[in-house]
Amino acid sequence: MNILILGSGGREHAFALKLSESTKVNQLFVAPGNAGTSQIAINVNINPIDFNAVKETVLNNNIEMVVVGPEAPLVEGIHDFFLADSELKRIPVIGPKKDGALLEGSKDFSKIFMEKHNIPTAKYQSFTKKNLVEGFTFLETLNAPYVLKADGLAAGKGVLILDSLDEAKKELEEMVSNQKFGEASSTVVIEEFLEGIELSVFVLTDGKSYKILPSAKDYKRIGEGDKGLNTGGMGAISPVPFASQEFLQKVEERIVKPTVKGLQEDGIDYRGFIFIGLMNVDGNPKVIEYNVRMGDPETEAVLPRIESDLFDLFQGVGNQTLHEKSFSVTNKTATTVMLVSGGYPEAYEKDKQITGLESVKESIVFHAGTTTHHNTVVTSGGRVMAITSFGDSIEEALAKSYASIDKIRFEKMNYRKDIGFDLIKN
Ligand code: AMP
Ligand code: GLY
Repeated sequence: MNILILGSGGREHAFALKLSESTKVNQLFVAPGNAGTSQIAINVNINPIDFNAVKETVLNNNIEMVVVGPEAPLVEGIHDFFLADSELKRIPVIGPKKDGALLEGSKDFSKIFMEKHNIPTAKYQSFTKKNLVEGFTFLETLNAPYVLKADGLAAGKGVLILDSLDEAKKELEEMVSNQKFGEASSTVVIEEFLEGIELSVFVLTDGKSYKILPSAKDYKRIGEGDKGLNTGGMGAISPVPFASQEFLQKVEERIVKPTVKGLQEDGIDYRGFIFIGLMNVDGNPKVIEYNVRMGDPETEAVLPRIESDLFDLFQGVGNQTLHEKSFSVTNKTATTVMLVSGGYPEAYEKDKQITGLESVKESIVFHAGTTTHHNTVVTSGGRVMAITSFGDSIEEALAKSYASIDKIRFEKMNYRKDIGFDLIKN
């Protein structure tokens, strides 16, 4: 079978590598892909948001399954587009339709969903410019810090956590009245601040049954010690040591089951990944957010740990036979460290030649912001590549990732040297 993966990051390279191991997969295509995916698949230079270009790619290349990496095409309705097209409707799309994608596309929708289905989350209320004054009053009932979230997609920047009440009121007004995040912040969710340690749990569902994939923790801030600006993610660890059997049991009973059942009850036929961002609050899980895709760089730590055929699971999602499938996961720890362009997440330079990749033997190199220029691999984005290694402990795996990184060079390369710092016992 030929498969098309949409996206261009480390996540999509990880999907491509895993799927390339399946004997049932014939030719892989990645759109638009990167220098790493071009080594194992055919890159197609189209924008995944251009659904007609996706259609043409699918029909021209006998593609029989589409795996959607990022959220944007899902929120824009790529799955609905396929179902509405007589030539495409029999082709399974791994990723929810527009209705399911709202779990990520609208924070307000996801809070209403959780409330309705009794899924533990921070208490909240939503406001627009019409009831701004009530928003100020609600803020006064909360304790600092104050959490304000733009309802819509805001490129990962739509969440503000503020220490002062005055600042929170000012920002709320900026968001709803002055469109600080454009249309995305015309509705704002204000919620209680949850104290605890974060982790992510990944679920794959065919709308009827589900599989819980390995958990992971990511490191979002640019600076060591979790300081500085937010990024797409600077590293990830899987599994998460504090996610005990008992804790994961609570996650399954209190969150995963009611989420899958809630989608069914609400008539949402959901086929794809659900990425559940969780806070462990004194041993009890609460949902911070849903995403309707896999995480990046979490995927680069999670997928390599899956020993079974990922394509087989995807086929189960496509024809709703996921309950018949089984999968196995290695006990080893996987650690992923992201190499980024100097300056990222603010302005950075591109087109820097990357050297040393051929001498990396003990890690998997997942390309993200890379491209090929005159037969050399050069940087083309902020997050450049993810270096994943296995070990019997976090320390052992990290030592391999960092030893591999020592062999890789590009001008102004930056990375965090403390991935996993909070998980390693002294
Ligand atoms: P989100 O975009 O919803 O993932 O939010 C971005 C980050 O803000 C999360 O990864 C958390 O670190 C933090 N965050 C969001 N909501 C809360 C909350 N209610 N309490 C504490 N931290 C939060
Ligand atoms: N690493 C966080 C995300 O993919 O949203």
